[in-house]
Amino acid sequence: GAAELGPYRHYMQKEIFEQPRAIADTLEGVEGITPELFGDGAYRVFKAIDRVLILACGTSYYSGSTAKYWLESIARIPTSVEIASEYRYRDSVPDPRTLVVTISQSGETADTLAALKHARSLGMPHTLTICNVATSAMVRECELAYITRAGVEVGVASTKAFTTQLAGLFLLTLALAQVRGTTTPEQEAVHLKAMRHLPVALQAVLALEPQVVAWAEAFARKENALFLGRGLHYPIALEGALKLKEISYIHAEAYPAGELKHGPLALVTSAMPVVTVAPNDALLEKLKSNLQEVRARGGELFVFADADTRIENAEGLHVIRMPEHYGALSPILHVVPLQLLAYHTACARGTDVDKPRNLAKSVTVE
Ligand code: G6P
Repeated sequence: GAAELGPYRHYMQKEIFEQPRAIADTLEGVEGITPELFGDGAYRVFKAIDRVLILACGTSYYSGSTAKYWLESIARIPTSVEIASEYRYRDSVPDPRTLVVTISQSGETADTLAALKHARSLGMPHTLTICNVATSAMVRECELAYITRAGVEVGVASTKAFTTQLAGLFLLTLALAQVRGTTTPEQEAVHLKAMRHLPVALQAVLALEPQVVAWAEAFARKENALFLGRGLHYPIALEGALKLKEISYIHAEAYPAGELKHGPLALVTSAMPVVTVAPNDALLEKLKSNLQEVRARGGELFVFADADTRIENAEGLHVIRMPEHYGALSPILHVVPLQLLAYHTACARGTDVDKPRNLAKSVTVE
């Protein structure tokens, strides 16, 4: 009811603003990195596997897609990520030394549950879930679990569940890295410290809301939008596009920025805003040249740039400055202004933000 909403207009907005608390709660009780965070016997399981298969749907699939970058670069473990409804119906090559990881806010998504059972029936006994509901079918079905503490999520478009999933997946990365000996205790401590600082860093990002509101006015009048990211932030661009289409009904798609020249550049005109996630990482110079390709064709760019990137406002180039680069955990910060952009664009268009047409919060039938 309205009382629960407090100062917020919709549950989605409230849930976006709950993220510092949700992440803090998800990390509460994490004294240090140990496999046992994922359940009794996790050490033995982590020793018995040498690849990861992530299965999920919707927004949860994008948190899994982000985690692939972490798992391969930090834990050095080969990782594949599949849409649950695809995996369950295709012929794949099972490897018993696989950790099957399902990601689900509700823990009840029919396709994800079926994909999990399919994987097990193919002879992969080791299963782990990152899930927001401790009493769900997914948690009961999996050998190991990490329960995120986002709290009840009401808005159909997932926000705080996504960022807490990322936090859980980063812990999984660090635990696997520890068992596999790919991080030193010093590196682990640095990562953990950065995680603990996330609630404060998220508050700083949430303070950008008025600047995002100003952009949303322009977006509300568009019918198409393109989102670009590279590397670790490509799944964040995908998630930003998903948020925008789910609640504002603006057609949006996301591309890895390096693929621009292989197709979507043909769509670029001043009528299509191009949203870019621009962290100051190793790919920044490449990304800047992708931005030039868009500007040279009259495209209008909306860039979320880390403060240290030196990307400046100019004709056809709008910049919102994020805090300093946040390293491996940067996706958890960069997704937040994309959530806010979708939210305020939808508000400006007057859609039913918390209950978008044709969509359900939890899809328990196929
Ligand atoms: C539905 C919801 C999405 C969610 C997806 C997967 O489509 O509208 O917000 O990402 O299901 O749900 P799960 O509960 O498995 O994360």
